Amino acid sequence: MNSAVSFHDNHPASTDGSIYDELLEGLTATPKWVSPKFFYDRRGSELFDQICQQPEYYPTRTEEGILKDWAGDIARAVGPDATLIELGSGVSRKIRLLLEALHPASYVGIDISRDFLLDSTRQLADDYPWLEVHAACADFSRPVTLPQSVVGPHPVAFFPGSSIGNFSPDDARDFLLGLGTLLPEGSGLLVGVDLIKPRPILDAAYNDAAGFTAAFNLNLLMRLRDEFGADVDPARFSHQAFYNEAQSRIEMHLVSRCDQTMTLAGHSVTFAAGETLHTESSYKYSVEGFQQLANEAGFVSRALWTDPDNLFSLHYLEREV
Ligand code: AVJ
Repeated sequence: MNSAVSFHDNHPASTDGSIYDELLEGLTATPKWVSPKFFYDRRGSELFDQICQQPEYYPTRTEEGILKDWAGDIARAVGPDATLIELGSGVSRKIRLLLEALHPASYVGIDISRDFLLDSTRQLADDYPWLEVHAACADFSRPVTLPQSVVGPHPVAFFPGSSIGNFSPDDARDFLLGLGTLLPEGSGLLVGVDLIKPRPILDAAYNDAAGFTAAFNLNLLMRLRDEFGADVDPARFSHQAFYNEAQSRIEMHLVSRCDQTMTLAGHSVTFAAGETLHTESSYKYSVEGFQQLANEAGFVSRALWTDPDNLFSLHYLEREV
């Protein structure tokens, strides 16, 4: 048993007030929006896990397939003695596939949720006794720094799942530029990116027949009600998700079924029947389009893997010297 995990706290406790300001900024805008990060309370994380197992939701199993099919190739591209820095939690099967393929010198999990992070890194430390494990509590959507002793001589960041698709292309570029504080010149970045594909496949992936994506979307309103004290009836909204081809993105919305008013922290937010609250965008890229964006942010493409159906891509990039 090796549950020794070194812990680094980079995340200042945020005040409640700033959360309400952030929610109200979008709720009082036209059109109305809320950041998709509000999906992920405990129930939201469970629902996301269910989404990943649905037959229509191809990204998770396809990315896992790429990691399995190309494990040897990926290990050769990355090289030995890496410090694998995962942006997000370490509970997924993906990180295990990668640890087994790469045998890196050490692993650093970065996540904003302290408890979740400690659980997942301790579990990895137990399961891989040969691995040096670090946990860094930080919001990786903002620039993060770690001690040189943790980053090591060969840092490689891992950002799976096409989570980068939640950023607009401009914000994705800024995000990649911001990784410069974490990744010195010459560092690697292994990033999963969902690909542009025919609309029916995309629409189905975000409208699974079992209804988990709808429940995930609507759970945001339950969270507003139960955690943030909003006066809102989730039953008066419905799930909507569709591919916006002009913007190469899936959009998820909550559609108001009637004229209604919700209140949050003393503010009234009025919805007309049919008006929507935009809860998520999930951008899709061509291989060349993503490589171009990465170039503009100072990364060069070193390797690329896709699945036989060209549904998903895994890019190995290096920060330009
Ligand atoms: C976690 C952002 C990659 O965009 O596919 C899945 C989230 N939303 N179904 C995605 C999500 C609805 C997911 N990402």
